[in-house]
Amino acid sequence: MPVNSTKSKQPPSPVTGYFEGERLELSWRYLYRPEFIPLLIDYLGARPGMRILDVGCGTGFLARLLARTLDDVRVIGLDADTKLLNLARQMVEREGLTSQVELQQGNAYQTPYPAETFDLVTSQTLL
Ligand SMILES: C[S@@+](CC[C@H](N)C(=O)[O-])C[C@H]1O[C@@H](n2cnc3c(N)ncnc32)[C@H](O)[C@@H]1O
Repeated sequence: MPVNSTKSKQPPSPVTGYFEGERLELSWRYLYRPEFIPLLIDYLGARPGMRILDVGCGTGFLARLLARTLDDVRVIGLDADTKLLNLARQMVEREGLTSQVELQQGNAYQTPYPAETFDLVTSQTLL
């Protein structure tokens, strides 16, 4: 599924540099085979109803996957890069996940959330 790239319209993020959203999306889609998803959910200990923070969410691939796979989860995707967050928002809307996935701009070093806000914190290739 093509996404509306804003690649040429915006400069790299001063915090994170430059990540190309479409490339991130395609690489994960290729790697995440359907049989892998239950193993991932089990490994993460992710359960229905959890409040989940995905740090450095990029285009929101993992946040959207968790929201699609688990009932009643609420996922906040945090990323510093507004360009990627804009792509993430488009896909959250397109996939009908707006009631489950919220995207917030911010720095992983200074998260605004009080302790125990989340049941699970995920982060895919941020470090
Ligand atoms: C390799 S990408 C991975 C994106 C996403 N987790 C995924 O799996 O597709 C790394 C992400 O971390 C974000 N990032 C890097 N440093 C960050 C920071 N200090 N605070 C918030 N996000 C950061 C980048 O903007 C980018 O979206």
